[in-house]
Amino acid sequence: MQVMKIRKVTENVFAVGVQDWRRKLFDALVPLPHGTSYNSYLVTGEKVAVIDSVDPLFTDEWLKNLQELKVAPDYIIVNHAEQDHSGGLPEFIRAYPDAKIVTNARCRDLLISLLHLPSDKFLIIEDKSVLDLGGGYVLEFHLTPWVHWPETMFSFLQPEKILFSCDFLGAHYASADLFVQDEQLIYNTAKLYYSEVMMPYSAQARKALEIARQLMPLFIAPSHGQVYNHPEFILQAYDDWTGENTGDVLILYVTMHDSVKKMAALIQHELEAQKVKVKVQDLTETDSGEIAMELVDARTVLLGTPTVLSGAHPAAAYAAILLNAVRPKIKYLGLFGSFIWGGKALDQLASLVTTIKPEIFPPLMIKGLPLPEDEIKIIEWAKEVALKNK
Ligand code: FEO
Repeated sequence: MQVMKIRKVTENVFAVGVQDWRRKLFDALVPLPHGTSYNSYLVTGEKVAVIDSVDPLFTDEWLKNLQELKVAPDYIIVNHAEQDHSGGLPEFIRAYPDAKIVTNARCRDLLISLLHLPSDKFLIIEDKSVLDLGGGYVLEFHLTPWVHWPETMFSFLQPEKILFSCDFLGAHYASADLFVQDEQLIYNTAKLYYSEVMMPYSAQARKALEIARQLMPLFIAPSHGQVYNHPEFILQAYDDWTGENTGDVLILYVTMHDSVKKMAALIQHELEAQKVKVKVQDLTETDSGEIAMELVDARTVLLGTPTVLSGAHPAAAYAAILLNAVRPKIKYLGLFGSFIWGGKALDQLASLVTTIKPEIFPPLMIKGLPLPEDEIKIIEWAKEVALKNK
C-alpha cells in the first residue's frame, strides 16, 4: 500500500514513524489482524525533538523520514525502553552524534543494558521536568511507571496539548490515515492491545489515566496505531477497562468426547435460566487475543477440561497460563472437568493461577459422560455461580 510517510499532526509536529502492514503476531502471542505501527514524532521549535524511535527492523525507513525533513534533531525523547520503540537508537546517535537522549534514569539504565548505548549521551529528567524547545514549545515529562514497564513515561507538548503516551492508549493498527477515522474499529483493536499489554497493570494504568485526564490533551499520539484528535472515547474506554469488571460469566472449555462440552452446556443453560449473562468459548476455536479481550470485562471465569493422561488438557492449561499472565480483575474462578482414571486435572489448573486471587468455587469433577445424578450436581454448582453473579 502506498503511504504518505511523513504527516503533520499540527503545524510544527510531524508523524515520522512507520507502518508494519505485515506483522501477524505480537509478542509471539496476540494475533494482529490489522498489522501495527511504530510511531515516532518530530517537534520543531527552535530546537528539534524526536519523540521515540521504532522497531529495529524499520530503522532505515525511519531515518529516511527524518532526513526528508532536513532538520538536525537536538533531542530524542524516549518514553519507553522496549525495543519496538527504542530499536533505532544506536543508528540514530550515529546519524546525529550531537543529539541527546532525553529520558528518566530507569529508562537510561534499561537502554544501556538492551542497546549498549554510551552513558554520556543521556540527559536525565525527573517527574514533571520540562524541556524548553524554544519558539514557544515546551515538553513536560510525567513518569508513569509500570504501564507496562518500570520506566514508562508520558511526554506532553505545550501549547499544542499533545500527549505522547507511548504504549498507553495505543492500538495495533497500520494505516495510511494519521487520525482515527473509525472509533469502533479502533476501540476493538485498542481493547485487544490493552488486554495483553496493560491489563496485567490495571491499577497503574488507572493512575496513568488520571494523569492523562488532568493534562486535558487535545491530541493523544500513542506509539502504536492512529492519533486521537477526539481523545475522549479512548480515555472513556480505559476508564471502563481499568474499572470494576461488570461483565458476563465466561465459560472456556475444551472437550475430547463431549463430556466437558455437555457440562459447559448444562452450566450455561442454568446460568441463563437464572438471568445471568454467559459467554461460552471452545478453546480449540478461540485464539489467545480473543480470550484476553473477553477477560477485560468478565467477572467470573469457568474453565473446563477433560483429563489427558491424569492431567489437564494442554489447551485448558494454556488458558490458565494466559489468565495468570494477563491478570484480569475477575472476582470468581470455577474449574470443572471430566475424568475416567487419574483425577488431578483441576488441581493442575489451579496450580497454574497464582498471580490473581479470585474467589474459587469448589472444583466440579465428573467421571466420564455425566449421568442424571451428575447433571443434578452440575446444575447445583451452576446455581452457586449464579448467586455470585446476580
Ligand atoms: Fe510497544 Fe512496550 O512496547
